[in-house]
Amino acid sequence: MKIPVATISKDSPMPRFGLGTWRMGERSSAAQAEIAVILASIERGVTLIDTAEMYGDGGAEAVIGRAISGTSVSRENLSIVSKVYPHNASKKGTIAACERSLKRLGTEYLDGYLLHWPGEHPIAETVDAFETLRAQGKIRAWGVSNFDLANMQELITVPNGKKVATNQVLYNLSRRSVEFDLLPWQRERDIPTMAYSPIEQARLLESAKLKSIAYDIGATPAQLAIAWLLQQPDVIVIPKTTHIARLEENLGALSLTLDATTLSALDAAFAPPRKPAPLAML
Ligand SMILES: NC(=O)c1ccc[n+]([C@@H]2O[C@H](COP(=O)([O-])OP(=O)(O)OC[C@H]3O[C@@H](n4cnc5c(N)ncnc54)[C@H](OP(=O)(O)O)[C@@H]3O)[C@@H](O)[C@H]2O)c1
Repeated sequence: MKIPVATISKDSPMPRFGLGTWRMGERSSAAQAEIAVILASIERGVTLIDTAEMYGDGGAEAVIGRAISGTSVSRENLSIVSKVYPHNASKKGTIAACERSLKRLGTEYLDGYLLHWPGEHPIAETVDAFETLRAQGKIRAWGVSNFDLANMQELITVPNGKKVATNQVLYNLSRRSVEFDLLPWQRERDIPTMAYSPIEQARLLESAKLKSIAYDIGATPAQLAIAWLLQQPDVIVIPKTTHIARLEENLGALSLTLDATTLSALDAAFAPPRKPAPLAML
């Protein structure tokens, strides 16, 4: 399976299809299935894994650590992204949180480290910590998450703020408000977007309109929703699943090409934004 890549920094191309891990690491009884799906992903070429210190209170990172310790794929061929809690994002706090994440993951470095959402610490301080971590080789690139346009505009004014590699935001067919201003702004600056909750935590799959358009092209609703995001070259998708069959289904999105008729049908069913709206978060 050939997975397209986005360039998030000169030396870190990031695969545009990854595995989300929110809700993993919460119950020890689920760990075996979670490890199995992470390993199955890696075996199928899905080498980007998105996580956060928040998920399962470190449990998701620990599960990923267990999974990657059992794979023959070398560390350089994996892309691991984690996130720091806003309340930890002071200069010292970010560095300490990253070190805890590295320990749980059993790795020497992160490919991407993101501020989970804007918080009380000045963004200049967090960026300073990210740059220190990068200089120490503990992260390859850094970014943000849940930053709206005003947050991004502020970010690029602080020292080294322009080095932001990505912004991870809620983006799917039923959540298109980012297309109004944030995406074009990022696109002009070559800042790829990581689209989280690409199937709206499975709620989107119940849409009769999505089901009908998917049926017409011989795809499943999940494949169509993911393929629609992937047809934009600077969007990275990270659907989460703990089922190998669903992982395979979702990967089918990579073989779908959406023609103009399908794209217009999707625009008619899920209208693009006509005015700005506050950035939504899940
Ligand atoms: N930065 C942030 O603030 C933020 C916020 C939310 C999410 N995220 C990241 O983005 C990732 C993805 O978002 P998400 O987990 O919120 O939602 P999602 O990927 O849109 O949906 C995940 C849900 O859909 C189910 N699912 C997956 N594939 C399916 C399929 N083919 N058919 C039916 N059900 C399917 C999963 O169930 P099973 O697991 O039971 O298969 C799970 O309940 C997260 O895991 C996390 O890594 C980041």
